[in-house]
Order: sequence, then structure tokens, then C-alpha cells
Amino acid sequence: MAVENRMDKIVALAKRRGFIFQSSEIYGGQNGFWDYGPLGVELKRNVRQAWWSDMITEHDEISTPPGAPTSFDMVGVETSIIMHPQVWKVSGHYDLFCDMMVDCRECKARFRQDHVPTSQCPLKPSKAPGEHDKCQLTAPREFNLMFKTTLGALGTEEDAAFLRPETAQGMFVNFKNICDSSRVKIPFGVAQIGKSFRNEITPRNFTFRSREFEQMEMEFFCHPSQSLAWYQYWRDRRYNWYITHGISKSNLILREHAKEELAHYSVGTADLEYAFPFLEAGSYGELEGVAHRGDFDLRSHSEGKLCKKDGELVVELGADGKPRHPGSGKDLSYFDDQARERYVPHVIEPAAGCDRATLAFLCEAYHEDQQPDEKGVMQERLVLKLHPRLAPIKVAVFPLIKKDGMPEKAAEIYRAFKRAGIAVQYDQQAAIGRRYRRMDEIGTPFCVTVDSETAVSDTVTIRDRDTLEQIRVPVKEIVDHVRGRMG
Ligand code: GAP
Repeated sequence: MAVENRMDKIVALAKRRGFIFQSSEIYGGQNGFWDYGPLGVELKRNVRQAWWSDMITEHDEISTPPGAPTSFDMVGVETSIIMHPQVWKVSGHYDLFCDMMVDCRECKARFRQDHVPTSQCPLKPSKAPGEHDKCQLTAPREFNLMFKTTLGALGTEEDAAFLRPETAQGMFVNFKNICDSSRVKIPFGVAQIGKSFRNEITPRNFTFRSREFEQMEMEFFCHPSQSLAWYQYWRDRRYNWYITHGISKSNLILREHAKEELAHYSVGTADLEYAFPFLEAGSYGELEGVAHRGDFDLRSHSEGKLCKKDGELVVELGADGKPRHPGSGKDLSYFDDQARERYVPHVIEPAAGCDRATLAFLCEAYHEDQQPDEKGVMQERLVLKLHPRLAPIKVAVFPLIKKDGMPEKAAEIYRAFKRAGIAVQYDQQAAIGRRYRRMDEIGTPFCVTVDSETAVSDTVTIRDRDTLEQIRVPVKEIVDHVRGRMG
């Protein structure tokens, strides 16, 4: 399938079946903003849940780096979107979180400088900006990606605040609160899921680059001597999370950043990159970054914004010789009372995008094949092979026909799934083949059918979306059977 064609089909399916809609569509849409429909909200909730379970509730303690403790704490937080403006000065976002942009004086379009070669000239889409005779591109200019807002009624510059461009800072500034309130001991991790905002110059590729999006970030605080081992641990563990949830190894790469690519504070960063269908064959787009951030964040929030001088991180000074962006002045070091040692912990940060992960799972799941209908005639089938844990609906219940007590029995089974908290849909409209196809298209892994045999043996058929295998299962075991196959 052609690259664009495949992506167009995924976008069309997402709209047709209620996964993702353009925001404010009836008013012509709002570029860079997306709404999740009834199925999309469930899919995204399941992605979030799978991440939270892996990070917090079900994290195991078996395969930790050599020499590291075999058990470690993982806790969650939910911090505010608007934080003290000093946070963004100290973190570097105020000075450095910029893209270079160019404007066209002729058509008034704006482009990210690094996107110019792959963008279209609005006057002549077969050409790139700058290639048309009429193009008048400005020199590149810096553009800060943070959304600015105003607090209170006066609206002066002192009341300016920013929508957070990442969730991470909410965890760094609460480091002391968490240590003092929850008896965590290093190493430990703090995770949060929440909205972030970036005023992207050219939002594009469906939800991939949006202006409002959700992040799933975790800050893992550890002893400096163990930080490299933990970096490798989290990098590999995050790679495996995507594979476990259905991403194929052939579509996912782990790319270590070259030294020149590293942020000024970073000792190492690896990107998890996915072969999104809107990219050319052999190209990958960032799904998640796993960064070794050293002690940059805790030191900055304590001492003031840091910069690199002669290879060392030092507090950046203004013309007056004072810190250019002062920190909080609070001591954010950690005292290990067993080792009697005080130090500033190092941080490993796996930073994922919930919308990008959801998009990758959707793209990976999208399949077209041909399957025989009930009369044995081959029919085109569109199927989302989502991991059962991520599928918005886990099971559909059908009466084969609308009589002979079948709808009543099917309704009973439907309610049993509801009581068990398993997302279920009931459908008695149209031929059974069409009902199967409707469920395949939204990724429902199992379809349970009540037929004439049910009244005789108290069994139902269960059909597997991917293998199409149908087996009979006693009615009293069907809920446990489905639960057991969710993986
Ligand atoms: N705290 C580190 C941080 O924010 P990042 O690489 O800028 O790192 C982490 O962002 C993840 O957030 C990205 O890997 C991506 O999945 C997601 N993300 C970033 N910008 C995005 C955007 N404009 N639209 C959708 N997702 C985005």
C-alpha cells in the first residue's frame, strides 16, 4: 500500500469509527488540536492505563541493574499545568525552547526552518517554500514554543505565565515534598501523565505533532554511580513495553543520540522511534525519549539556571554577576542515612507521548485482508489488530438470530461482562458476518455468539479476531475465559 494511501486510510477510519476528530471541525477545524471520540477515548485510556500499570502499580523488581537494589519505589503525582514562571526560566525553556522559523512576505505563510525543504509552497504546492518566483522568505527568526497566558485581571507583564511544555518540571520541583511525605528511598521514580502545550509552528501528520498533547513522563532519581546502569535499564524496559503491547520489532528502533545531539546537561539520550506510515520507507519518527539528565534539574531548581563552562555545569551569571535566573535556594540534595552520604541524585527520564503512542498502536494495528463470509465468498476485511489490553471494546455479544430466546440469553451474557468490568458491546443488527466485520474494524478481539446449540449444551461460540478460530465455551466460564485471553 502506498505510504500516503495507508495513512489516509487510517485517518479516515479514525474519523468514521469515532476514534479521533479534528478539533472544532464544524467551524473549519483548529490546526494542531484533536478530539478523541467514543472509541478513541477508550483506546487512549487503555494506553495510559498500560503505562501507569507498568510504571507504578505492577512494576516488578526482578531485573534491576547489577549492584542495584532489587526493590525500588515508584510513585505518581499530578501537578498543575500553570506553574511559577521562574520554573521555566530555571529549566531553560524560557531562553532555549525555541524553533527557528521563516515567514513568506508574499503569501504570509510561516514555516519551521528545518521543515522548509519538505514543505509545500502555498502558491505552488509542487514546489518547496522559496522555490517559487514570488516567494519572499525572511531570514530565520527564533520563536519560543511556550504558550503565554495572563493571570488575574490586570494583565500586566508581571502577570504573565506559561502553559507547561512538559510535565517533567512538576516532578522536579516536588522532589523535596515527595521525599518528606512518602518515605521513598533512593532509587525511586516519580511518574505523571498530563497535558502539555507547545505552540508548534507547523503542527502536522495527524496527532503526531500537535499543539496540545498528553505526556507520560517518569523521573527516576538514583545515586550518580548507578545512573548509567539505570539509564540502560529504563531504555531497554521502555523498548520492551512497546513490543509487549503489539509494536513489531521491525517497526521500532532504539537510537542512541550522537554526542553533538545531546542536550547540554545530558550524559546520554536514546530515542524510541517508530516507522510511522506518513514517513518514507526506512524513516522513523520519535515516540519517546529516554534521557540521562544527570543532576541538572535538581541543581538548577536549587542554585539557579545552569550552563556549561569548560565542560562543567555552573550557575549562569547575568551582567551584574548574580545568577541570571535564580533558583529556589532550597536544598534539593538527598541524605542516605545508611551510607551517611549526602548527594544530589541523578535523574533518568523516560518521556513518552500518549497521543504518539496511541497513534503508533493504531498504525501498527491497521490491516487489510480477505476473509470468507458465511457463504464462503471472499470479502475484503479491514481489521485493527490491537493488543487485547488496548482494544477499546474487549468482547462483543451477538444472538445469532432475533428469536428462540437467543437475544435474552445474549443479554444475560452481556450483563455478566458488564458486571466484571470488561468493555462489551451487544449487537443484534444485520447478518452475523457483517457484525463480525464491524467489530474487526474497531479492533474487538473476541466475539461471543449465542446460537441454537446454546439452549442444548449451555455453551457459546467465541471467535478470535486474528486467527478467526471459533471454539465452544460453557456459558458459565465465558467471562473468565475472555479475561484469561486479554494478555
Ligand atoms: N521532558 C522531556 C520532554 O518533554 P520531549 O522529547 O520534548 O521530551 C517527550 O517530549 C515526548 O512527548 C516525545 O517523545 C513525544 O512523544 C511527545 N511530544 C512532544 N512534542 C509533541 C507534540 N508537539 N505533539 C505530540 N506529542 C509530542
